[in-house]
Amino acid sequence: MKHIPHIFLCLILLLAFSACTSKSPMDRYIDDLMSRMTLEQKIGQLNLHSAPGFISAERVMDNDENAKLLREGLLGGIYGSSNPALMRQYQDIALQSGAGIPLIFGMDVIHGHQTVFPIPLGLATSWNMELIEKTARVAAREATACGINWVFSPMVDICRDARWGRIAEGAGEDPYLGGEIAKAMVYGYQGRDEVFDVDEVMACVKHYALYGGAEAGRDYNSVFLSRQEAMNGYMNPYKAACEAGAGSYMSSFNEFEGIPASMNEWLMDDVLRKGWGFDGFIVSDATAILEETAHGIGDLQEVSARSLQAGLDMDMNSDGYVGTLKKSLEEGRITKADIDRACRRILEAKYRLGLFDNPYRYFSEERYASEVFTLENRSFARKVAQECQVLLKNDGTLPLRKGAKIAVVGPLAKDAAAMAGTWATSSHNDESVTLWQGISEVTPASYAEGSWLYGDAAIEDAVRYGLIRMFAPGVPIPPVHERPQKLLVAEAVMKAITADVVVACVGEIAGMNGEGASRSDITIPDSQIELLKAVKATGKPLVVVLVTGRPLVLTDIEPLADAILTVWSPGIEGGHAVADVLFGDANPSAKLTTSFPRSVGQLPLYYNHKNTGRPHPDDVPYRKFTSCYIDELNGPLYPFGYGLSYTTFSYSDVSLSADEMPHGGHVTASVTVTNTGYRDGMETVQLYIHAIHSTSTRPVKELKGFRKVFIPAGQSVSVDFQLDEETLSYYNHELQWACENGDYEILIGPDSRDTQMVRISVQ
Ligand code: BGC
Repeated sequence: MKHIPHIFLCLILLLAFSACTSKSPMDRYIDDLMSRMTLEQKIGQLNLHSAPGFISAERVMDNDENAKLLREGLLGGIYGSSNPALMRQYQDIALQSGAGIPLIFGMDVIHGHQTVFPIPLGLATSWNMELIEKTARVAAREATACGINWVFSPMVDICRDARWGRIAEGAGEDPYLGGEIAKAMVYGYQGRDEVFDVDEVMACVKHYALYGGAEAGRDYNSVFLSRQEAMNGYMNPYKAACEAGAGSYMSSFNEFEGIPASMNEWLMDDVLRKGWGFDGFIVSDATAILEETAHGIGDLQEVSARSLQAGLDMDMNSDGYVGTLKKSLEEGRITKADIDRACRRILEAKYRLGLFDNPYRYFSEERYASEVFTLENRSFARKVAQECQVLLKNDGTLPLRKGAKIAVVGPLAKDAAAMAGTWATSSHNDESVTLWQGISEVTPASYAEGSWLYGDAAIEDAVRYGLIRMFAPGVPIPPVHERPQKLLVAEAVMKAITADVVVACVGEIAGMNGEGASRSDITIPDSQIELLKAVKATGKPLVVVLVTGRPLVLTDIEPLADAILTVWSPGIEGGHAVADVLFGDANPSAKLTTSFPRSVGQLPLYYNHKNTGRPHPDDVPYRKFTSCYIDELNGPLYPFGYGLSYTTFSYSDVSLSADEMPHGGHVTASVTVTNTGYRDGMETVQLYIHAIHSTSTRPVKELKGFRKVFIPAGQSVSVDFQLDEETLSYYNHELQWACENGDYEILIGPDSRDTQMVRISVQ
């Protein structure tokens, strides 16, 4: 010390002092807290359990087990309960045990909480970011009144293969649109500033990453993508959510590059944290750490250690961290710093949520009574659902005349749960307005069930009652197919004969999509097609109302239908909103965010595919030595971006403010859109780009902008898009985000198939 001149000593002391004082209040608080925590308590913070009875994987927790762990200070959070009394009780125990750290309460609030909105795939088809943000806002208000402060949403996995049941939970196949929706959802949940108000929740972006690339659309399956394709085709929504300030991420079940995502350092550390600057915490998906043993990586201790070191902070329902990390530390397999790092990130989230100030701040009986499942929220849900119905075909049968006699047929007509759809954890699902109810409130209507859901009773039983059979074996289950299919069809035909129009409600019940619900055949089941053929044979106009959680192959039924309206699972007010569209009180404006294939053999099918060296047009039949099928066209039945209205729009005067753009500059692309029909309507104008030459291959079209505009009948609007380097950039072969010199096509139109082109050159 005596060799150090005084001036340096002062400097060192000053630096040390300012390092202390420059720490944020949060850092100081957590430093102090962690200095008082035992190793076990720190590991306890990394442990997340589900509430008793909550089912999202085969491992179901019970109350005693949770309470015991809580008393030992070995739980950092609970998820899957919307029962405020139970959560308060858990919070009481947490505060009285261990280091007295409050629990975080998570929940799968996916498309609304008690007020259920259309499933995410349906919401996306609105292309209305303000609307989507507001659904998340309402969900946050309702969830927080029940004590929930952390939601496992948005689900932003891009999916190109409709066999995957979880396509229902995301925004579809496009990474740009998916990114815009991810941002809207995060803003809706968390607000736009850093502070969490009492009616805002922390978002958990999932499933990180690339889960939607599951091979052959089979859930939980491996993902085989290059890093470049992953970055260009799939990662943007995860990145956009990070830019919007998402507080947490959930790792996914799949492997990527031979490493399960929940222990994939490249994904979690290199890309998410170092690349995008994410500073929140990452939780595993349910039992994902345990599942790494089945991936063949090692025993629970090995996979837990590797997951922690790769950057996974919290273990959901595997008990891998709480059960093995201490041992791994003693054996030198991991370090104390690994545990501290993860623990700190979780404590930071709790601090940001204000839980250290008031662990009960998200419980509010008053708000519960006045803000949850209100008439106002329900009427908003109806408005939202009106904007999420895609009119795929209409020969003029729609809108229906009020007063017309309607035969409502089909196994989905009275299914309330199908309105709520997958991941609707609300206790009000049975109160969802059915299609029958919505239609029969407007006009004289008759009803017939019309057909079995599935011809195969075993499949029908599995999709209806599979969960009950697995988890509640004693509960009595009614037999499916109690009445013969022929009789059901005959009844529907009788109703059709005496009606003016037939509305057939067909498609998928909630159990046919979502998690663990992949299908190898995504047509409408044969039993329902038999119904459609029979009612069509009566000669009455046939409107197909398609309830579904995924794009379906409609090739067989398209010729039978005079109109097809895809309503997805439209939520709590579904029946009303569908009737609003059917009878013309609302003009449909939704557009597809996934391609509807012509046949399953085309899958994966997506508009933003690459060209081959032997390209083949979408709508031209087989030709040898080109990239096509002998027995099917290449193109979809209905393309990405497609959807009709009760009015019509024409596009003209596509132009650019300049046909050259210097690097760092910008150019405006413009189009005139005219409402050429007799009704006011909303139109989503879409802008795509195509790089004519680039240093590595790029898609034939890439969505880079869209505007949803209201256009009164007979009027025109001019729609502008600003183009800059960002619009034209992509991840090149070195994974650099680059706007390369060369020519680009700028394509504007009502969907991805029907576009008008201008060219721009970047030098
Ligand atoms: C699902 C997640 C969900 C979690 C918790 C998992 O099975 O993959 O999406 O958030 O369970 O319920």
